[in-house]
Amino acid sequence: MTSINTAIQLMTREDAEQSRAGEGTCSPDLAKGPWEFDIPTVPERAPDYGPGASLQDLAPVSTPRQGVLPEEYQLAGDAELEARILAAKEALGDRLVILGHFYQRDEVVKHADFVGDSFQLANAALTRPDAEAIVFCGVHFMAETADILSRPDQSVILPNLAAGCSMADMADADSVADCWEQLEELFGTEPDDGGRQPVIPVTYMNSSAALKAFCGRNGGIVCTSSNAATVLEWAFERGQRVLFFPDQHLGRNTAKAMGVSLDEMPMWNLRKVLGGNTEQELLDSRVILWHGFCSVHKRFTVNQIEKARAEFPGVRVIVHPECPMPVVDAADEAGSTDYIRKAIAAAEPGTTFAVGTEINMVNRLAAEYPEHTIFCLDPVICPCSTMYRIHPGYLAWVLEGLVAGDVRNRITVEPEVAAHARVALERMLAARP
Ligand code: 13P
Ligand code: SF4
Repeated sequence: MTSINTAIQLMTREDAEQSRAGEGTCSPDLAKGPWEFDIPTVPERAPDYGPGASLQDLAPVSTPRQGVLPEEYQLAGDAELEARILAAKEALGDRLVILGHFYQRDEVVKHADFVGDSFQLANAALTRPDAEAIVFCGVHFMAETADILSRPDQSVILPNLAAGCSMADMADADSVADCWEQLEELFGTEPDDGGRQPVIPVTYMNSSAALKAFCGRNGGIVCTSSNAATVLEWAFERGQRVLFFPDQHLGRNTAKAMGVSLDEMPMWNLRKVLGGNTEQELLDSRVILWHGFCSVHKRFTVNQIEKARAEFPGVRVIVHPECPMPVVDAADEAGSTDYIRKAIAAAEPGTTFAVGTEINMVNRLAAEYPEHTIFCLDPVICPCSTMYRIHPGYLAWVLEGLVAGDVRNRITVEPEVAAHARVALERMLAARP
């Protein structure tokens, strides 16, 4: 099976344009090199997120800027980049560990020492305290988490600084602090007779270190898509309600599966007073949902599931809980990237799977498990455009920098922020079902 990158490169620009609405890719711009998007369309702004699923999302101004990749890396072909990456890895030996998220392109994943979900990769970093450099082929919040959990003398490197996460950027520290102030004014700060706080903040791993620190400071906790229900239980034991950010879908899908009704889950719109809710709605709430979403998982629809069921009777539909609620309800199962991987690994040979998550991961699973039929629910090739920013050219650039003693693109979380964020992460690690 060809990699997503190769499949996109093989389409001519014209084919890509024509197939935008049908089968093909969601954006012909994907065929360009990612460095072409590191030059902002408005000079004083951070680069836009395109191309791809989050083409419509604009990176906030606070997004760190990636300088333009030196021309020698832009012009190098696949074989040359591969040889340079391998040579740099060889030269660095045990001084280096490369982590690769499931959503990375094959051309990058093949160089990773560990491949996994965001939580597994954060833990993988801990298993190599001897490595001077942790090169994180993933997105910005993952590199921040690795920096928080790793030793201070280890450098965490993100090969392309423009690899953010558009969902994580939908909740910024000021907007969450403003929301919190309004909630404290409404609910007060005193616990009830059972000792439960009025509200507990819960942030998804896909958020900035500043928000993890906010949770650490305010009795809150971090969750991932694999432990969201356990974390919500932890929070309900300590609080009358939860403020969940940034992903409304993970919050809603998880709380609904735990028996929380939809009218007890108002949405917080940061542009409106009380988030656009009445005082009573907030007082009656169990989970207040932030208005965030993932541009990749938002693309999956109930129609796609119906089509898959019509074409492949008996198909098992598994989706990620970042998908909208009607999609999760129509699927057979929902779970984190690691849940999806394990479900496929454990299935009887000859099972057909329609999967609702990022295309690089789905295609890799299809190649790894040829005894099954595995396809992505979305017929359009639309990788996570921010994960896709990690091109082998950037990987070669940071690795050759390390060989030359130049640490490029180091991600550093301020010690004060890191200390509070670590508290929220450790609460998550200690929470048990
Ligand atoms: P994982 O936590 O499963 O790695 O997922 C991260 C992510 O960005 C999903 O869209
Ligand atoms: Fe963020 Fe969605 Fe990409 Fe995951 S898939 S990194 S949530 S934009």
